[in-house]
Amino acid sequence: MSVTVQKFMPPQNSNQDPDQNSDVEIIKSNVQSSTLEKMRVVGGNALKGNIKISGAKNATLKHMCAALLTEDPVTLENMPVGLQDVRTLAEVLSHLGTMVGLRSDGVATLHAEAITSHTAPYDLVRKMRASVLVLGPLLARHGVAQVSLPGGCALGARPIDLHIKGLQAMGAEIELEDGYVKAVAPQGKLKGAEITFPLVSVGATENLMMAATLAKGTTILKNAAREPEIVDQGKVLIKMGAKIEGLGTPTITIEGVDKLHGTTHSILPDRIETGTYMCAVGLCGGELRLQNTRTDFLSALISPLHEAGMDIKQEGDDVIVRRNGAKLKGVDIMTEAYPGFATDLQAQFMTMLTLCEGAGMICETIFENRFMHVPELCRMGADISIRGNSAIIRGVEKLKGAEVMATDLRASVALVLAGLVAEGETVINRIYHLDRGYENIVEKLTNVGAQIERVKG
Ligand code: EPZ
Repeated sequence: MSVTVQKFMPPQNSNQDPDQNSDVEIIKSNVQSSTLEKMRVVGGNALKGNIKISGAKNATLKHMCAALLTEDPVTLENMPVGLQDVRTLAEVLSHLGTMVGLRSDGVATLHAEAITSHTAPYDLVRKMRASVLVLGPLLARHGVAQVSLPGGCALGARPIDLHIKGLQAMGAEIELEDGYVKAVAPQGKLKGAEITFPLVSVGATENLMMAATLAKGTTILKNAAREPEIVDQGKVLIKMGAKIEGLGTPTITIEGVDKLHGTTHSILPDRIETGTYMCAVGLCGGELRLQNTRTDFLSALISPLHEAGMDIKQEGDDVIVRRNGAKLKGVDIMTEAYPGFATDLQAQFMTMLTLCEGAGMICETIFENRFMHVPELCRMGADISIRGNSAIIRGVEKLKGAEVMATDLRASVALVLAGLVAEGETVINRIYHLDRGYENIVEKLTNVGAQIERVKG
């Protein structure tokens, strides 16, 4: 197999190469889609065939940040190297001194031998909020960090106060100045602390868990997030020499160590991508074999899908998803922190309900503004009314193709799903959101019978 690699080198380049394979060719351009590119979907085909699920985006980004904690190389396998978010974070990390090699066979090497800058600038952070996850590792290893405040986004204000308060509890001196979080660990070292989160936050749990691995003493995180991606991150850190207990429970205990070392880790499958294709089958009918993924981390989605009338089962490393014949029944869900129903699957599930028999209700409890897809779905003929953080979806006979606008990653994919079942042609604008989180979506859907293509704006 011919393997290509994209290299992200620190500004003051060192002699080391993140990928020793001399047969590799450097990918010249990392831009997948321009802001003008659109997606054209012609609806009506049932889906049939195999889709290979990629490694989880929301684990990958955190594992990449964890590489800042050691001077040794960290190798990540099953990595969704085609995602724009991965490439953006590679830029941030290389800016800080990390050599990053992203290979087209899904193996990445990150080597932060020395931290050469402690600033994550606005220009990079604004492209992707997850960049704020360099704060904990930088402070822990380097004793100083300066990270641009990410600002609001389409989902709402999304503050990072819990990250900041947690680091302050660990002894960091933090100032917010000129749009930056400027943080210093006195004598270059954070100290252990007991931190109780007032609400469950994925990012704050991850940032503080990484920071605590190199702190002096023991840190206890209470009311911590329990997402499978956090458990996976904990596994990476443990392989790197960290001492962590309680992963997957609301209380995580981390005993700081002096140093972490390199490791190799294979990233868990993307449960949100898996769930997205399950909802696609719910809408379009047919049967998909989702390869290299699991059902156990999707119980909160699979149980309402069963209730609605779908057939889903694990077969070895694959998941078979089927809907033949009858329409789905309307069901109600509420988004919650894991193990509850994932907010990242809400838009896709809602799209599926647009064609259900009867009605379904969705209550969004995680983000204040995550119904941006609703007006677009209504333009395609859906019957949805919103009351505060709840939406009632009354099933209609059919959706009709239209020109629609994508607003964020999951809203974008929801519109793709709507297009797959709608009568006629749907054109989705601003599809660069999709490239942030869905690897090879056009190829994956085309292979199972969908009519979908990128078109120039
Ligand atoms: C992660 O975001 C995911 N992003 C999101 O996925 C996901 O929707 C979210 O977790 C919830 O599951 C990544 O993993 C990169 P949070 P994160 O901190 O960590 C509030 C996608 O589509 N909050 O758990 O930013 C916050 O405003 C993305 O892939 C504070 O008030 O989410 C929100 O209402 C979108 N203060 C709630 O907590 C803080 O300091 C949960 O946010 C932090 C969060």
